[in-house]
Amino acid sequence: MNGTRQHGPIKVGLVVGSSRPGRRGPTVAGWVAETTVGHPAARAGEVTIELVDLAEQRLPMLDEPVPARFGDYRHDHTRRWSTVVAAYDAFVFVTPEYNSSVPAVLKNAIDYLDAEWRGKPAGVLTYGVRGGGRAAEHLRPILAEVGMEVLPTHVELGLFTDFDWTGADRSDPTADGRISPGEDRAAMITAMLTELLAAVREHRVGHRADLATGAGEAADLTTGAEMAGRDAVPAVGR
Ligand SMILES: Cc1cc2nc3c(=O)[nH]c(=O)nc-3n(C[C@H](O)[C@H](O)[C@H](O)COP(=O)(O)O)c2cc1C
Repeated sequence: MNGTRQHGPIKVGLVVGSSRPGRRGPTVAGWVAETTVGHPAARAGEVTIELVDLAEQRLPMLDEPVPARFGDYRHDHTRRWSTVVAAYDAFVFVTPEYNSSVPAVLKNAIDYLDAEWRGKPAGVLTYGVRGGGRAAEHLRPILAEVGMEVLPTHVELGLFTDFDWTGADRSDPTADGRISPGEDRAAMITAMLTELLAAVREHRVGHRADLATGAGEAADLTTGAEMAGRDAVPAVGR
């Protein structure tokens, strides 16, 4: 069984993957949210899209004594984060590239949980000087490791191609350009949302078919057995 909810409008979380003061993350995620408002499924009320801002979670560096795969959370901040992530059916990770990879705050937030990510579709949007492709290269296998279904579509925004710097002093490190991605980028976001929704619907149909044939129960048992096998791996090995 996968982690998507079986009924109701599909809930997509836009994870804002940076947390520093003055970050561009909320601006980029806001642009994604605005772009998806016009999607037919959004207009029909079949999907809700919300920002999941890691800065608001204020998670410390991972301080759980038991690896997340065991689901034995000892801290309130982990339980709160678990409740947030469990409420979504799919995610778009909106992340900058930091030193050829993803920001530590994003990796840390992913590491905190396991079952809450498992089976859920994930889209990736990166931004950076040259679009953040190296962050995406790192993020995709991380998401796959926690069992997410990573979509093939990856959207990149370049700081000097998808932001308008007219009138800004580029030698000032705090100066900011205005986000202005081209229509092709907006079209890619729309395509990504379509892929995400199709994946969630497929999971829901598969779940109903499993229930009808009783395979769901068997699948759940298999998953349980697999997890028991995993539990047999010494915790120190994870
Ligand atoms: C610590 C740090 C490392 C960075 N490393 C890279 C990098 O390796 N490649 C790149 O294209 N941009 C890099 N940048 C530029 C960021 O992609 C750009 O500043 C972006 O706006 C950062 O996202 P944020 O504003 O949401 O924090 C780096 C920025 C920071 C703060």
